[in-house]
Amino acid sequence: MTEPTIPALSPDAPPVLEMTHISKSFGAVTALVDVTLKLRKGEVLALVGDNGAGKSTLIKIMSGFHRADAGSMKVDGAAVGFASPREARAHGIETVYQDLAMIGDLSVYHNMFLGREYHRRVLGLNLLDNARMRTLAQSHLRTLGIAIPDVNGTVDMLSGGQRQCIAVARSIYASPSILILDEPLAALGVRESGYVLGLIQKLRQQREVSVVLIVHNYSQIFEICDRINFLHSGEIVLDVSTAETSEEDLIRIVKSGLGRRAVASAA
Ligand SMILES: Nc1ncnc2c1ncn2[C@@H]1O[C@H](COP(=O)(O)OP(=O)(O)OP(=O)(O)O)[C@@H](O)[C@H]1O
Ligand SMILES: [Mg+2]
Repeated sequence: MTEPTIPALSPDAPPVLEMTHISKSFGAVTALVDVTLKLRKGEVLALVGDNGAGKSTLIKIMSGFHRADAGSMKVDGAAVGFASPREARAHGIETVYQDLAMIGDLSVYHNMFLGREYHRRVLGLNLLDNARMRTLAQSHLRTLGIAIPDVNGTVDMLSGGQRQCIAVARSIYASPSILILDEPLAALGVRESGYVLGLIQKLRQQREVSVVLIVHNYSQIFEICDRINFLHSGEIVLDVSTAETSEEDLIRIVKSGLGRRAVASAA
């Protein structure tokens, strides 16, 4: 396979999402402390950190699932406050959660249109327009370069990597400006991860959609991400560009103890 050329992110790519001084607690548990994050148009941003660092909480605030206790958020420069995931989606933010929200015994194309099915009127009845959804699913997957043997087959028959790709494809179908992926590579083997990595790389190549993804593997981060934000005990302690850092540097910084100094030196 030839490596795709990844156009450099323009230094003046506008921010599509800005989170400023975000804090969040669950009772006595402090999940996020004064988090400030910026995502630029077309950028692929990795959120990394130990278990319990606050990664999922942060993306759940982005996607309208949780409300921050303090802080503010802007999408395309305008202040927003999401009361629900539906409101975030209306602002162009799509999220693929870890469980993927797929129905295993339904076909690939039915899953692609879950919750936004096309219908047609037949003799006064409102029926599913299966032919239309099948054709649209096929052409959408082809455009994204996702090879699924048969969109009529059930999702249960797919590999984990294929399923992950269908979940991502479904979100892309909504034409989001921001795509959030919670551990899209978790539990996937090398070949399967390659499948999903290829899809994210394709988005990165086009620089149209901005992506936030939670990922643990450093080599994969350096393969597909433009920038890394490292969360530690609810704080972003490191914000670096992958072009200006090596995997070895990152490991060294993490091992030597993360601190605000790292953010300062990377700025
Ligand atoms: N709904 C909740 N109720 C109470 N505490 C919560 C809730 N969600 C998260 N927390 C707590 O907030 C902190 C951050 O959790 P979060 O799920 O954001 O971490 P994470 O970085 O995604 O971890 P992991 O890598 O394990 O998924 C943890 O201490 C967690 O126990
Ligand atoms: Mg999590």
